Amino acid sequence: MRRPRAVTLPALYPRRALVVGSVLALALGPVALAPAPDPTPTPSATTPAGDRGAQLYLEQCASCHGVRGQGSQQGPSLVGVGPAAVDFQLSTGRMPVSREVSQARRREPVFSADDISALVDHVASFGGGGPRIPRVASGDVVSGRDLFAANCAPCHGAAGSGAVLTNGWSAPPLYDASATQVAEAVRVGPGLMPAFPGQVLTDQQVDDLTSYVRRLRTERLDPGGNPLGRLGPLAEGLLAWLAVLVLLVAGVRWLGRRAAE
Ligand code: HEC
Ligand code: HEC
Repeated sequence: MRRPRAVTLPALYPRRALVVGSVLALALGPVALAPAPDPTPTPSATTPAGDRGAQLYLEQCASCHGVRGQGSQQGPSLVGVGPAAVDFQLSTGRMPVSREVSQARRREPVFSADDISALVDHVASFGGGGPRIPRVASGDVVSGRDLFAANCAPCHGAAGSGAVLTNGWSAPPLYDASATQVAEAVRVGPGLMPAFPGQVLTDQQVDDLTSYVRRLRTERLDPGGNPLGRLGPLAEGLLAWLAVLVLLVAGVRWLGRRAAE
């Protein structure tokens, strides 16, 4: 019989507790940072429709993006971001944020569909053009799958389940985005995501991609679907966590060594 190697358990425990604590802190960090719903009530719908966008903008956006969208220390310029960018940010509930954040998260939209289009029009009045809101039609999922694997899976994972990127940014899971939001994200490239303009992906290709992304959502909701496609991102996610763990352990040991000196 082999004798078990002696392990100094008491010495290991505090270290492990620290590591678990840090991992928890890392995992919960984004939740705690998520912007709180803005408590400011939206003004009643009695304002003339023409001024609605301007009024909402002054109340909810101008403090960060500037009265004419010129930008400020708190937010980037909106001149030329285009209707698709504004519609994407508002319909996914990313904007308005209540304070400066590095990555606004998806949540329930703050505004009604009518108010969103009023705001889209108002921001467009600052000029500069930019991508329009795409009209999506149903496309070819087989072509969409290839386009997805080549252009999107590196960040969002083979099954679209999302992944952690750098600097506290993450590529979100793609299961909640509507067809229009998928196409908007592709054309606009929100945050760290690159934009894919018409020269890179044709409208037809965007339709193919969108249909495939929507298919991913159905496959995920249907447990009878082929589970193999989901092994990739799972393994990737595990690897990312392992890398984080190794870094943490190294950091904790380094701190321990410094404390011992
Ligand atoms: C507290 C400050 C703040 C407020 C209020 C705010 N934003 Fe933002 N906005 C930001 C910051 C910071 C970013 C960049 C961070 C990001 O993309 O997640 C941003 C990004 C955007 C973008 C993307 C710009 C691009 O280059 O693609 C749009 C569009 C936008 N905001 C529109 C709005 C609108 C419309 C409102 C009002 C309903 C609003 N924001 C309210 C701070 C703010
Ligand atoms: C370099 C990494 C990267 C690539 C490549 C990339 N994305 Fe993204 N994507 C992101 C990031 C980061 C965000 C979050 C942006 C934000 O929150 O402002 C995002 C957001 C999105 C969203 C919004 C999801 C939601 O629920 O609000 C969609 C949809 C999306 N991407 C689709 C795609 C598609 C389709 C492709 C391929 C054509 C693609 N992305 C390629 C990084 C990437």
